[in-house]
Amino acid sequence: MSVPEREPVRHDLIPVARPVIGEAEEQAVLEVLRSRHLSLGPRVPEFERRFADRVGAPHASAVSSGTAGLHLALRAVGVADCRAEDEVVTSPFSFIATANSVLYEGATPVFVDIDPDTLNVTADAVASAVTERTVALLPVHIFGYPADIPGMERLGLPIVEDAAEALGAVHADGTTVGGRGNPTMFAFYANKQLTTGEGGLVTTSDPAVKARIDSERNQGRAPNMQWLDHDRLGFNYRLSDLQCALGIAQLGRLDDMLEGRARVAAWYREALGELVERTGLELLCEDRGGDRRSWFVFVVRTPHGVDRDATIRALAERNIQTRPYLPAIHLFSFYRERFGFREGQFPVAEDAAARGLSLPFFPEMTQEQVAIVVEELTAVLTSD
Ligand SMILES: Cc1ncc(COP(=O)(O)O)c(C=O)c1O
Repeated sequence: MSVPEREPVRHDLIPVARPVIGEAEEQAVLEVLRSRHLSLGPRVPEFERRFADRVGAPHASAVSSGTAGLHLALRAVGVADCRAEDEVVTSPFSFIATANSVLYEGATPVFVDIDPDTLNVTADAVASAVTERTVALLPVHIFGYPADIPGMERLGLPIVEDAAEALGAVHADGTTVGGRGNPTMFAFYANKQLTTGEGGLVTTSDPAVKARIDSERNQGRAPNMQWLDHDRLGFNYRLSDLQCALGIAQLGRLDDMLEGRARVAAWYREALGELVERTGLELLCEDRGGDRRSWFVFVVRTPHGVDRDATIRALAERNIQTRPYLPAIHLFSFYRERFGFREGQFPVAEDAAARGLSLPFFPEMTQEQVAIVVEELTAVLTSD
């Protein structure tokens, strides 16, 4: 593909993501500031309770990041102080934190290839990788599409769900992602469906899991213990009251934000129809079998034979911010070196990684901005 000559930019930069922050968020944070109770205060349990109610889970534990949530959730289901023989089956097509959280406790991630439509691991693929060494499953609801957790639950192994990108997604049987009882991690970085700046949370139906995570996020202190008293190894994975106040305000507008994302996705689908026909550009799958995606990113796959990275550069010159999304985890150098991974092992994930392009996508995006992105993408992909 030859990249067309740079044309004068006729529009402002269109960012790849942008959080919705309004008066409610400003007010909520200001109140905490004025209270002087910035950490370990009342906003933490309030955010946890409201979030748990929202996804239909009995318990929730707020933590400092999604990664911290995965780490503590895995420890809580027994992936703690592992030997390298202990295996956790997961997806190679995720953000690197998914697999890294397995490494923190010395276990080995076992990757299985993803479904070409949903881009999630399937229950069958996971089942084929289970051995007597498997200690847990770590499925990912990638790009907000619900993975087949009911199918994986039938395998009878501990499951931790990575729902960093899936707040608002619903399974075909009507259960919400995060509401099935397995420890499920959500993440709140600024591009997520709900943001606390940085942050994460684990939902669970098991009060013992909640108690262990609450203790381990706070340096191993049990709820009945005194300040500076600790009865186990812990971490500082706490989320502050400032962040929880922001999260509470965001929960108040979550339905609007989710609707905004779905609306922008529908505009994109409509506007991209012709380009899909003309060039072989691929869109994310439509909802199927009753599963419902929560729109997190609008990722397209560039047509076969097109240089995705050159497309990103050409769009940047046209004031459109995009990202390669996502790299395959097994092909990162330290995974290759440590486990001997190589190209060709998980071809579907590798193809999605090579062609994935995340377009500007956020709840307040206008139809005009969508039209500009599509126009510029069309210009880049259809130039000779
Ligand atoms: C699928 C997935 N897993 C894990 C994480 C890690 O979350 P955090 O960045 O909050 O640590 C992310 C965040 O981007 C993610 O998208």
